[in-house]
Amino acid sequence: MIVITTPTGQIGSRVLEQVVRSAADEVRVIVRDPARLPASLRERVDVVTGSHDDSGVVAEALSGAGSVFWLIPPNPRAPSVQDHVIDFVRPLCTAINGNGVERVVAVSTVGRGITRNAGVVSATYAMDDLIESTGVHYRSLCPPAFMENLLSQVEAIRSKGTFFAPLSADRRFLTCSTRDIAATAAELLLDDSWTGQDSVPIVGPDLLSYTEMAQIMTEVLQRPVHYQQISDEAFRATLRRAGVSEAWAEGGAAIMAATDRGTYATATGAPAPTAPTGFRRWCEEVLKPAVDS
Ligand SMILES: NC(=O)c1ccc[n+]([C@@H]2O[C@H](COP(=O)([O-])OP(=O)(O)OC[C@H]3O[C@@H](n4cnc5c(N)ncnc54)[C@H](OP(=O)(O)O)[C@@H]3O)[C@@H](O)[C@H]2O)c1
Repeated sequence: MIVITTPTGQIGSRVLEQVVRSAADEVRVIVRDPARLPASLRERVDVVTGSHDDSGVVAEALSGAGSVFWLIPPNPRAPSVQDHVIDFVRPLCTAINGNGVERVVAVSTVGRGITRNAGVVSATYAMDDLIESTGVHYRSLCPPAFMENLLSQVEAIRSKGTFFAPLSADRRFLTCSTRDIAATAAELLLDDSWTGQDSVPIVGPDLLSYTEMAQIMTEVLQRPVHYQQISDEAFRATLRRAGVSEAWAEGGAAIMAATDRGTYATATGAPAPTAPTGFRRWCEEVLKPAVDS
């Protein structure tokens, strides 16, 4: 049995699709609203309704599970980033111990052991520590910044030809596409030969600044796109206006500051398997359809 969390999210939905397509094993999902699953997949999986921060739900879902895909959902309204992460890991750790789960694949992030004070990025390392402490066979997927983060600025790109962030215009940083994270997760979930605990960097082939990304967007979208650096204060104010909690706004600003310091400028950990999706291809296949729609 393979158990998949966040089956309606950017990464989880692709993991589900790929695992269902290939699995000889049964598949079970934990989902808050089963109606949000595609009908064609809903009838092929076992559904446990609820949230994976609920220990009763997790205990039920992990009964008989061999492999588990775990992802901590972002909650920009959470009053504490650290508590939010811990709330989504404790039920997993209890259920691993009680159910004989063999393998866990979870979405973490690059920079473990070196990045401090970077909001949800540093908080996520506590997830790795707690899962590893159970002794389960574990793969921690370590992507840098998602290219998909730019999708939150589609409207600004479409209407103003500009996107905004508090990052230096010439700061190069690593990125990856969520499709490559999902593909790696699915591959690991379908393979019951690996053992031990390790990190798996998932890093796209480019090292680009926002200025360089804007140039590629301009070419692909065939309209001028500019990057505009905004102040840290303006960034926090934008987040607050969107209803983001003080802790999450602080964390978001901290991630940007860490990126500016170079957190995402190199891959850390084991030699990086280069994720196949480059920024130009992502713009052609994901950003352009979103901007044109
Ligand atoms: N953005 C980055 O640059 C970056 C970089 C490295 C790592 N990460 C990590 O990547 C993860 C985000 O993955 P993603 O982009 O696939 O997320 P996403 O698309 O935002 O999906 C979130 C999923 O979580 C579910 N969800 C939301 N709140 C929930 C709750 N309270 N209980 C249970 N389920 C809930 C949603 O389901 P419903 O709403 O349908 O119920 C949805 O399936 C985070 O852990 C983040 O730390 C992000």
